[in-house]
Amino acid sequence: MIDYAITSVTGWVMMVLLIAIIAYPFLLRAGFLGPIQPFLPRMRLHAWLVYSLGIALLIHIWFSMSSELALIVNTLGLYLATIAMFLVGAQILLGRTLSWPKLAQRRIVQRSHFWVMVGLVILILGHIVLDSAMLQVVR
Ligand code: HEM
Repeated sequence: MIDYAITSVTGWVMMVLLIAIIAYPFLLRAGFLGPIQPFLPRMRLHAWLVYSLGIALLIHIWFSMSSELALIVNTLGLYLATIAMFLVGAQILLGRTLSWPKLAQRRIVQRSHFWVMVGLVILILGHIVLDSAMLQVVR
């Protein structure tokens, strides 16, 4: 029961963090969050939100996969979540590269960072639709 509660709470906390992580750069660029410059230092909050998500992700994986939950949920959903987990690692590497002010190929890395984000959102939505106990109850 406690495993289920922790898995559920960390899962929905990660959803809120992910929305904030994705929205932040667009809101900052659009000027909704005050001055845009200095852009890269102001993007540090974006990175810290990702690291907080990483901590929630470790707790989420630990409690879901060490309990009977892992045996009863949809296997395809777990595969989607596993690919998403590796993509988060790739996204952190791309993000850390983008944080470097003298980056020469910024456009290419920016584009990759954007499309990995799109892939992540699709995989995570798939995982939630297939594996969320809360959604199964609503359906
Ligand atoms: C789950 C992980 C992450 C997601 C979903 C994500 C998502 C995004 C999105 C949607 C943008 C805006 C892209 C655009 O303007 O087209 C962005 C920009 C950026 N992200 Fe991330 N990000 C993640 C991780 C990180 C990390 C860990 C860092 C730094 C350590 C980082 C640093 C940056 C920087 C510096 C930019 C601005 C790039 C530029 O305009 O030059 N990101 N991110």
